[in-house]
Amino acid sequence: MAAGFFISKSVGIVAIVLALGAVATIIALSVVYAQEKNKVTDVGTTTTTTAAPQSYEVTLQPFLTPDANNVYIFKGNSSVVFICTEATDLILIHSNKLNYTLQGSFHASLQAVDGSRVPPISSTWLETPTQYLVVQLGSSLQRGQRYRLITIFTGELADDLAGFYRSEYVNASGVKKVVATTQMQAADARKAFPCFDEPAMKANFTVTLIHPSDHKAISNMPVTRTWQQQIDGKSWNVTEFQTTPRMSTYLLAFIVSQFDYVESNESNVLIRIWGRPEAIAEGQGSYALQVTGPILSFFEKHYNTSYPLPKSDQVGLPDFNAGAMENWGLVTYRENSLLFDNAYSSIGNKERVVTVIAHELAHQWFGNLVTLRWWNDLWLNEGFASYVEYLGANAVEKTWNIKDLMVLNEVYTVMATDALATSHPLSFREDEVNTPAQISEVFDSIAYSKGASVLRMLSDFLTEDVFKEGLQSYLHTFAYGNTVYTDLWSHLQEAVVKYNVPLPDSISRIMDRWTLQMGFPLVTVDTRTGIVRQTHFLLDPNSTVDRPSIFNYIWIVPITWMTRDTLGDRYWLTDILETNNQFKVNSSSWLLLNLNVSGYFRVNYNQENWDQLLGQLTTDHQVIPVINRAQIIDDAFNLARAGYVNVTLALNTTRFLNQETAYMPWQAALNNLRYFQLMFDRSEVFGVMQKYIQKQVTPLFNYYKNLTNDWVNIPSGLMDQYNEINAISTACSYGITECQELATKYFHQWQQNITRNPPGTSSGRGSRRPLSCLRPTSSARYLQYTLDPNKIRKQDATATINSIASNVVGQPLAWDFIRGNWRMLFSQYGGGSFSFSRLILSVTQRFSTEYELQQLEQFKADNQDIGFGSGTRALEQALERTRANINWVKENRQPVLDWFQGETTLR
Ligand SMILES: *[C@@H]1O[C@H](CO)[C@@H](O)[C@H](O)[C@H]1NC(C)=O
Ligand SMILES: *[C@@H]1O[C@H](CO)[C@@H](O)[C@H](O)[C@H]1NC(C)=O
Ligand SMILES: *[C@@H]1O[C@H](CO)[C@@H](O)[C@H](O)[C@H]1NC(C)=O
Ligand SMILES: *[C@@H]1O[C@H](CO)[C@@H](O)[C@H](O)[C@H]1NC(C)=O
Ligand SMILES: *[C@@H]1O[C@H](CO)[C@@H](O)[C@H](O)[C@H]1NC(C)=O
Ligand SMILES: *[C@@H]1O[C@H](CO)[C@@H](O)[C@H](O)[C@H]1NC(C)=O
Ligand SMILES: *[C@@H]1O[C@H](CO)[C@@H](O)[C@H](O)[C@H]1NC(C)=O
Ligand SMILES: *[C@@H]1O[C@H](CO)[C@@H](O)[C@H](O)[C@H]1NC(C)=O
Ligand SMILES: [Zn+2]
Repeated sequence: MAAGFFISKSVGIVAIVLALGAVATIIALSVVYAQEKNKVTDVGTTTTTTAAPQSYEVTLQPFLTPDANNVYIFKGNSSVVFICTEATDLILIHSNKLNYTLQGSFHASLQAVDGSRVPPISSTWLETPTQYLVVQLGSSLQRGQRYRLITIFTGELADDLAGFYRSEYVNASGVKKVVATTQMQAADARKAFPCFDEPAMKANFTVTLIHPSDHKAISNMPVTRTWQQQIDGKSWNVTEFQTTPRMSTYLLAFIVSQFDYVESNESNVLIRIWGRPEAIAEGQGSYALQVTGPILSFFEKHYNTSYPLPKSDQVGLPDFNAGAMENWGLVTYRENSLLFDNAYSSIGNKERVVTVIAHELAHQWFGNLVTLRWWNDLWLNEGFASYVEYLGANAVEKTWNIKDLMVLNEVYTVMATDALATSHPLSFREDEVNTPAQISEVFDSIAYSKGASVLRMLSDFLTEDVFKEGLQSYLHTFAYGNTVYTDLWSHLQEAVVKYNVPLPDSISRIMDRWTLQMGFPLVTVDTRTGIVRQTHFLLDPNSTVDRPSIFNYIWIVPITWMTRDTLGDRYWLTDILETNNQFKVNSSSWLLLNLNVSGYFRVNYNQENWDQLLGQLTTDHQVIPVINRAQIIDDAFNLARAGYVNVTLALNTTRFLNQETAYMPWQAALNNLRYFQLMFDRSEVFGVMQKYIQKQVTPLFNYYKNLTNDWVNIPSGLMDQYNEINAISTACSYGITECQELATKYFHQWQQNITRNPPGTSSGRGSRRPLSCLRPTSSARYLQYTLDPNKIRKQDATATINSIASNVVGQPLAWDFIRGNWRMLFSQYGGGSFSFSRLILSVTQRFSTEYELQQLEQFKADNQDIGFGSGTRALEQALERTRANINWVKENRQPVLDWFQGETTLR
């Protein structure tokens, strides 16, 4: 898809036009369109059109075999009833890649619903760049009148993972099967039928699907009736669905397939888990079925609102672009995010399934019942779901302590990006997000993970109960409607007042600091004086921040803390520098800030306090809470990266790991040492680093060997299992012989015993993830396969390249491949794909030389004309990161080498 596709930015305009009350109710109008129109046509003055869609009747007939031209198509017709809210002679309705059957000589026909006079159509045409069907009338629609616009059309049922598309798999008997399915978010409902395709234009939808009689049809709502009908001499089944409540177009879904399902009923809601018949027969839907009911019940209580629909279908699809999509009442997933195979999947797969289900079900209320008005507020929708997914998962897997994992999975992960000068604020202005490419770019880790981190912090300082109270009132007030993010703040503020929560300022003014400015603070305490200060934390201290902030990068920071003997009350840091006498501790104690990392910030101390903390870790590390043991490591390494502390201080925080068995500190250390590995695995530092890691991991390896009775038993907890994996993978990859022999033994056993593949790999073409051990020749071959959807599914192409790039040998191959094939990759995946940014970041992660920087700059220059789509910002970040890496290696190679040598030759 070429760049430059615009979609109506009506909401922003409406906000001005209709500022005096009414919810955004424009049909479709945009400045962009007006400009386009003036350029391409000569219709005279442009008319402002405002109207509100009310209901649609949509009938679609997908053909699951190709037509005479070997193209898969669908046929459809649609009618939409709307109220005219302002007299106009122009109707604009979104439409993309649809071919119309003319009615008379026009693309559409118009009726007056209440029997009044209907203006004649004078001309109709398609505005391809702006994705509109335009209906020009001979005279004006009347304000307050209702009209019906009718269209008949066909579209391609392509394998492009967007709109109404097709997915394919090979069944157990080797027969190719075609599934017709949908992915409307963000702006692809208009590719299935003409519609007012903006989240604020909610309406009731009545969907009818015409399908082969041996295929089942499902949609957002339950079936009302189904009958057989002859069409063009063939017998088809017609399935009609109940009318939906008022909802946004991006949440529609319809699927025609031969899938099977397992079902149960939970408090009057029918729950079904769908998948390929073989997968369902193998019981791969059972885990999802088992957790869905309890998760729905959890959210009903959490939101104090019943599940809004009569049923909940969840479908695992062989081809799917995102991880999952929260379509109302019909959630779609990648197979590996819904299906779980007891015999072959790991606990990591299980965690993925339960958290993704909880995420999507959380949206059924927050996002679907109450919807943000425009994509600029996406962060609130996705950040919220990414936060409460942990609460929902915790409700069903109570022994996992899964909420703790938010710190590693969300907070620290996104801080790596948010500490760059090229980061961006959570909140965009409405007029900053216009085109489909801009919309797809806001689906990034800032929206998901920083959104989640900041909401977790908010919930922590309000308490979860106060947060819930405000949330419930927000949902009750805006059900079936649209909001902006400040509406949530207002309702939380009411709860704050009601419960008298002590805060230094209003929620809105506190949260503005976190949502309107990018980045996060570094809080530094000197325990000798009690002086505490804050500064904008930048990973590369030499980078310059071009983006101004109205708050000058000062935050209002909720600080929890403890000393060796006391647990303190929350302290609010509101200024750039303050003195708090409670932070003065004498030389035999220590101070620890940000308990459980509930605040979205990093912490630094004076050297004396660091020494005390490290001393505590050496003598008895359990005194420090487990999440904070991970924090000390992660903060120290990042402070060292940014030049705030000596790299040797960071390395010193890993010394106690030879006594540590908990997952989180280990994972924090391995994440950070991975950077050392990336920077040094092509240099002589790596040899001594390897010796040191062996020394630290050996006790952990032995601990698990004992705990599992020589690798026979499986540890009970989630984190224990994860850390067992850490112990083995670290011991093996850093060359501990006993581990390597063990791995070889198990690998041979496994090779002789493959009876079936885990979910996501068993449908003909596989998703080939574990490639990091491939030899260069086969890596190169797999890279070529990513351009051939018959070999590697489009959904898996970028993951495959990333996987190859993660390996020291594969990385240059992956980089050469991307440089050489960017145009092709961009044209194949340019539309609808959200993964360009990860692709760019992963192939460039080792870049640390001037030569590589030059190559990257050249790559940018060479492809400027076609662009980088959703990877645009990632490319800037990669350039910035490469420059930072170059400096880091220059400064740190020698001290790091010396430190590792000291640790491995001493004693
Ligand atoms: C097709 O329609 C017939 C007649 O109404 C019905 O018996 C059959 O179950 C339908 N098939 C499907 C897959 O819905
Ligand atoms: C449209 O949706 C609303 C809920 O938003 C519901 O009350 C109403 O009954 C629906 N209309 C129809 C015709 O189903
Ligand atoms: C669930 O309820 C539906 C509708 O009441 C019923 O047809 C179905 O048999 C029930 N399924 C189970 C597993 O109880
Ligand atoms: C240091 O603080 C501890 C308690 O925090 C106290 O018991 C001790 O007396 C203090 N020592 C000095 C020298 O102030
Ligand atoms: C920190 O998290 C642990 C779970 O890891 C929890 O038990 C503890 O209560 C939390 N502490 C605070 C101060 O929130
Ligand atoms: C960092 O620590 C090393 C070893 O302790 C020392 O030689 C070096 O001078 C320190 N560098 C700075 C900038 O403090
Ligand atoms: C192995 O674990 C048992 C308890 O599970 C313990 O008594 C024993 O000391 C451990 N042995 C080693 C070598 O760690
Ligand atoms: C092979 O797989 C079966 C079934 O999962 C299992 O019971 C058996 O222990 C496996 N054998 C080996 C050698 O791993
Ligand atoms: Zn989501």
